[in-house]
Amino acid sequence: MPIIKWTEELSVGVNAFDNDHKKLIELFNKLYDALSQGEANNLIPSVLKELSDYTKSHFKKEENVLVTNNYPGYLDHKKLHDEFVANLQDLQEKFQSGNMTLGVSMFNLLTTWIKNHIKQIDKKYTEYLNLKGIR
Ligand code: FEO
Repeated sequence: MPIIKWTEELSVGVNAFDNDHKKLIELFNKLYDALSQGEANNLIPSVLKELSDYTKSHFKKEENVLVTNNYPGYLDHKKLHDEFVANLQDLQEKFQSGNMTLGVSMFNLLTTWIKNHIKQIDKKYTEYLNLKGIR
């Protein structure tokens, strides 16, 4: 059963980005499933990698649209993306080197970050992009 769900409340008014966010949420649920299983440690590195790769590709896509459209909040937005990617990378490295285990509390931190980012930061571009015909 999915632990987090995409709802209209998370819509940023741009179809391509809503679809990316749905996929990201699907990957978070996959990570949660891996955590919940007995053999979680075997699955976590590959799921973390998939999540990290998809997150990077989504951020890049979003950043390209923002910069191409001269979005005024671009630099601040990109800084938040960069910080999250660095945190994810740090987490992957620590996990791979055996310096940490990925628990539910870490999972909750990641999901809270992504949900808050979509709701509070991504949604700021909705009106701006919609006015430029991007939906
Ligand atoms: Fe949808 Fe700014 O990430």
